[in-house]
Amino acid sequence: PDAFYTGWIADSIDAQMRAHRGLITRADLAAYEAVERAPVRGSFNGHEIIAMGPPSSGGVVTMLTLNQLEALGIDGAARGDARTLHLRIEVARRAYLERARWIGDPDFSEIPLERLISKEYARELAASIDTTRASSSAALGKDILTPAAESPQTTHFSVIDAEGNAVSNTYTLESGYGSGVVVAGFLLNNEMGDFNKKPGYTDQGWAIGTPANVIAPGKRMLSSMSPVIVTEGGALRLVTGSPGGRTIPNTVLNVVLGVTAFGEGVRAAVDAPRIHHQWMPDTTTFEQGAATPEVLTALRAMGHAIKEEGPRSQGDAHSILFDAGAKTARAANDNRSPDSGVSVPNVVRMPNAVRAPQ
Ligand code: DON
Repeated sequence: PDAFYTGWIADSIDAQMRAHRGLITRADLAAYEAVERAPVRGSFNGHEIIAMGPPSSGGVVTMLTLNQLEALGIDGAARGDARTLHLRIEVARRAYLERARWIGDPDFSEIPLERLISKEYARELAASIDTTRASSSAALGKDILTPAAESPQTTHFSVIDAEGNAVSNTYTLESGYGSGVVVAGFLLNNEMGDFNKKPGYTDQGWAIGTPANVIAPGKRMLSSMSPVIVTEGGALRLVTGSPGGRTIPNTVLNVVLGVTAFGEGVRAAVDAPRIHHQWMPDTTTFEQGAATPEVLTALRAMGHAIKEEGPRSQGDAHSILFDAGAKTARAANDNRSPDSGVSVPNVVRMPNAVRAPQ
């Protein structure tokens, strides 16, 4: 041990730390002491389980999953049957939530260890499991989940003024925080990522290598940004747009179709579950609810590859619908994004809105 904590290995660690602005000093190593801790003990199905305690979460998660399964009863369970797998997922969901909630170095925080590994607590957790339906991790852990903050990525806003002028603006750094480099108080983007990275290489996944968008000096990169203004009879009708990379044009299409073809108001057009197909990969992603199970079956029978996603997974389409006759504007934030506008006035009268956008 001396070689490691105070000898030549400590010297080597210290040298590397200094060279790379690391934090561990020779004094830290010299002061380090191993701590002997009691294992976590429990029982399952007639066996005794002895496992590692905090700061490892291993013993707690192991006992919490096994105890819940015991409470639910897994006699006759087979490894691959749906009931066993469903229960395993549900007990793991709950055990790992407790892990996130409680487990860390016991020298620094109070961990209710006995309770966490008790049969009684496992029974309480297991009682919240529906044996026929998946539960929501977000709902179970909402007390510790940080509310989603403003998206660090592409942003879209739609604005009209009292005279009916409209702005549809999408702007992007490409990734969150762009290149991560700040100059004069603002971030530099990493939009180079929107060029075709590998000339000549176009695959059935995401890679496109066609010449049109291969990097060249002075060239600007392809974008998917789709700020849109729709007019009707020369008068403003709809302002919309969205972030979402390659999904953006389809998100915009979804809103534009809702208003111009499906007879929807702006709220319904924005809320309507979306679909996305982008040539490659040759799969259509469906937000939950975009089609009934029967329709999905019919589309699959026609040869479409379909991937079902959760609800509210595509885009963030801030939109305004203008009624030129009534001179009213109706705005719809996109509930897919928690940062998409806390309150949007329902209908705004704009008696002086007369201009059609140029
Ligand atoms: O212009 C483009 O197509 C990309 N830079 C957009 C990236 C994007 O939307 C990411 N945010 N969701």
